[in-house]
Amino acid sequence: MIIILLGPPGSGKGTISEQLRREFDFFHLAPGELLREEVAKQTTIGKEIKKYIEQGLLVPDNLVVEIVRLELHGKQKVLLDGFPRTVAQAKAIANLHLDKVLLLQIPEKKVIERFSGRRVCTKNHGYHLKYLPPKHPDTCDKDGLPLTARKDDDPKVIKERFRVYHQETQPLIDYYQKKNLLTVVDASLSPPEVYTAVKKSLFEKA
Ligand code: AP5
Repeated sequence: MIIILLGPPGSGKGTISEQLRREFDFFHLAPGELLREEVAKQTTIGKEIKKYIEQGLLVPDNLVVEIVRLELHGKQKVLLDGFPRTVAQAKAIANLHLDKVLLLQIPEKKVIERFSGRRVCTKNHGYHLKYLPPKHPDTCDKDGLPLTARKDDDPKVIKERFRVYHQETQPLIDYYQKKNLLTVVDASLSPPEVYTAVKKSLFEKA
């Protein structure tokens, strides 16, 4: 089973993935997280990747596709969070059987406030100071690591991430719509409401 989660920056892809992973034991594959881990290791390739992420640009398709191919090998029940993001990436995995593509839809102005309150630990556990607060504002509930804001949650970078989303990912939405794989979920609701809607669209028969 392969499910793709699409949506603009901050739409809740990571939050939903974490909930689905815990409840249904999905293998959660999020290139954004893997790329940030590579940056943190300060490898040569990590230093290259950092430039793209910190400018709000997409990392080149060939690199991301290679990472995803390696990680996907032998996995059965997969949740792809933030991949593909371009039609070229989608074509690179066209040999895989996709069960569903979920689009988390939310107006841009509604999602903006989510960034200022977002906190993450180095193991990519995510919170929101108002909507999904940790027990202590500076510490991850799950592993006790410090919580910080993401570097690419700076307002200027967010603007660029949205521009790139409209330019690169909107055509992908049309691509999956034409293949009849797309289901749209209203991601502007509260976290529990969004999760209920996601489960309904994933598991309920039409
Ligand atoms: P990535 O990490 O994937 O970033 P993104 O797609 O911009 O998405 P975000 O992680 O910002 O948001 P999200 O939708 O996961 O929302 P979240 O659940 O965190 O990618 C980062 C970078 O890596 C890219 O810019 C690019 O450079 C590179 N990259 C990644 N994939 C790539 C690819 N395929 N190709 C090329 N480059 C790639 O929620 C956001 C906040 O809101 C949190 O604080 C959360 O607690 C809160 N929240 C969640 N749901 C709700 C709700 N319902 N109500 C209120 N608050 C909520």
